[in-house]
Amino acid sequence: MSKVTVVGAGNVGATCANVLAFNEVADQVVMLDVKEGISEGKALDMMQTATLLGFDSNVVGCTNDYAATAGSDVVVITSGIPRKPGMTREELIGVNAGIVKTVAENILKYSPDAILVVVSNPMDTMTYLTMKLSGLPKNKVIGMGGALDSSRFKCYLSKALNAPANEIEGLVIGGHGDTTMIPLVRFASYKGRPVADILDKATLDKVVADTMVGGATLTGLLGTSAWYAPGAAAAYLVESIIHDQKKVIPCCVSLEGEYGQNDICIGVPVVIGKNGVEQILDYKLNAEETALFEKSAAAVRATNAVLSEINIL
Ligand code: 2OP
Repeated sequence: MSKVTVVGAGNVGATCANVLAFNEVADQVVMLDVKEGISEGKALDMMQTATLLGFDSNVVGCTNDYAATAGSDVVVITSGIPRKPGMTREELIGVNAGIVKTVAENILKYSPDAILVVVSNPMDTMTYLTMKLSGLPKNKVIGMGGALDSSRFKCYLSKALNAPANEIEGLVIGGHGDTTMIPLVRFASYKGRPVADILDKATLDKVVADTMVGGATLTGLLGTSAWYAPGAAAAYLVESIIHDQKKVIPCCVSLEGEYGQNDICIGVPVVIGKNGVEQILDYKLNAEETALFEKSAAAVRATNAVLSEINIL
């Protein structure tokens, strides 16, 4: 029996749970939230779609009852406050670091063997915090940013190419920030053909720029952070773990020398399977991409440094 817990039953967490149930990724999905009744209500609402959508996964909700999450194979942490229009993800650190710390500690009491998928923002720093606090091996803590950013990159490429997004390959590495993510144009292709051979530079530059502010664009439109793609991106990662799919997914992991970096969690292409991080893939970056990656890592490190300034680490 597979069991997945989603902590935080806000828009992102509930969407993730819904996708997990609908796709029957896990036999049991537990949603936990601090707000009385919210996850119980959303779980019941989801279960009332079971016969309409034809799924057999069981979804339950609980208010801050970590005992209900015991024995989870994977735990998705979405807790924290979302962005308001004009805010960066980095501005959330003060509030969200305390929340993520409490959640990670409680989760590990009941599911010491779980693989943790971190969604809360600023995602790279929250992944680093979870990694440091938990003392878990590096294969067991994964931040989901690159999965989301790569999906947004492919979405914008599909619009520019007027082609189905599922026919397009593309990945985004680096930090999950408006100025830190790196859509790798050189590795993007449409049915095996490099997109750089099809689209002109101005179009590609716009695709890259739109991808980088993908989250901020939605925050402006919605008045809060996006949820469909963030929730689905987390579920996509969970599915590759639970079903040992060994998909190559760009996500935020702890680096020990890979890509020339140490003591940081940042987005790189990773094989995701039943052990979480199965392998970090070594894409050979050119000089320009390497410079962007180093700049991105420096920015993520600067945000990580705030963790000690606010006495969380
Ligand atoms: C986003 O990019 C919430 O960080 C998330 O939409």
